[in-house]
Amino acid sequence: MGKLKIGVFGACRGMTMISQLLQTGEAELVAICDKYEPHFSHSRKEAEEKYGVCNITYYTDFDEFICHDMDAVILANYANEHAPYAIRLLESGRHVMSECLACATMKEAVELIEAVERTGKVYTFAENYCYTPVRLEMRRRYRNGDIGELMYAEGEYTHDCSSIWPSITCGDRNHWRNLMPSTYYCSHAIGPILYMTGLRPVSVTSFEAPPRPFLTNVGYTAGAYALTILTMENGAIFKSLQFNLKHNHPGNNYQLNGDIGALKDMGNGEINAYIEASGENCNGESNIYRPSHIFPEAEESGHGGGDYCTTHLFIGSILGDETAKKYAVGVYDAVDMCIPGILGYKSIVNGNIPVEIPNLRDPKERDKYRNDTFCTFPDIAGDQYVSHNRFVPGGLPDEVYEEARRKWLNG
Ligand SMILES: NC(=O)c1ccc[n+]([C@@H]2O[C@H](COP(=O)([O-])OP(=O)(O)OC[C@H]3O[C@@H](n4cnc5c(N)ncnc54)[C@H](O)[C@@H]3O)[C@@H](O)[C@H]2O)c1
Repeated sequence: MGKLKIGVFGACRGMTMISQLLQTGEAELVAICDKYEPHFSHSRKEAEEKYGVCNITYYTDFDEFICHDMDAVILANYANEHAPYAIRLLESGRHVMSECLACATMKEAVELIEAVERTGKVYTFAENYCYTPVRLEMRRRYRNGDIGELMYAEGEYTHDCSSIWPSITCGDRNHWRNLMPSTYYCSHAIGPILYMTGLRPVSVTSFEAPPRPFLTNVGYTAGAYALTILTMENGAIFKSLQFNLKHNHPGNNYQLNGDIGALKDMGNGEINAYIEASGENCNGESNIYRPSHIFPEAEESGHGGGDYCTTHLFIGSILGDETAKKYAVGVYDAVDMCIPGILGYKSIVNGNIPVEIPNLRDPKERDKYRNDTFCTFPDIAGDQYVSHNRFVPGGLPDEVYEEARRKWLNG
């Protein structure tokens, strides 16, 4: 069998996967689709001038791209449009890796799972924050029983996006980033904890605070950040914090507190492990160390090695590699990592009430959600639309978006 033929849909963030495929040659990059000319040209330039690869076919139209001869597709298009494209690709016989997030509504979550089950194709979720050396070590140690049963966890992705907001929204009032609620982009904060522990969240309660001028000045009108409290299937409580906060600590914080120890990602490549191996309460040892990457080729890649791992594990899973299958994030875990963001906003708009998170592995739990299109994206939500903006009456004036657009166009 020759190399796998892969296409990439979306060539902005998709450039990370494009460059990796060109660099490693793990699979053959055969097609790229992006409707935006500069992204399109940039990917062609990179392939042809940097790597001397001239046999990629470039498309601006997905309907033509999907007809290309390819085994698998990486989705790096708009974050709220992944599920319908993934389903079309799976139905066409392709394996799919999806960038964050997996689905925009509960209805899509059900449909995505059922498409993967029906087609039997590989679906991998590119939650790259799971794959730093420290987070992989936390997973190993938790699953080894070193800290016992989880009692409490923290997962934080505090990313003040205000300086890059014009460039990542193009000054478009209707860009998905300007329409999503504060809770939506949750898999960087929540995903790694689920990945480490293998535990499923069963209930979500979320809170958000108003955006400050440093955010509204660049067109952002959702809650500045979201604080989410999850109850896990074993009763543990998981506090998750995400998004636009100024912070004086590493933007990502992950910690696990078990009943015989604790693990903490120190944010500087080190892990702090407190273990009560003695069997005596409060008599344990703390050990701070720097684990190396279990995928050494990942060392140089972005997001602490995570960018390399997602694509590498996707390709390995398709090829039947058992290690890749063990470490890749499949569709059920993908949905678990994403639906707290949808249901968390349901919690907020209903007065911060706890909302049940279903186990969509169980077909009996799916029917309740088959027609649930609750979300903040008007075209997807239909009559279940709810605004992402609870704080800026009437929205922001056009001038704000025009200014952001100018900034984006001026680089
Ligand atoms: N995991 C990470 O660390 C990380 C980082 C950045 C972005 N992302 C994810 O990557 C995805 C893309 O984000 P982005 O930053 O590139 O910004 P983006 O969403 O603005 O860009 C999407 C790209 O896809 C193209 N596109 C979208 N729909 C298309 C269509 N129907 N036909 C042709 N082209 C189409 C657009 O032209 C654009 O170039 C999102 O899902 C985002 O969440 C993940």
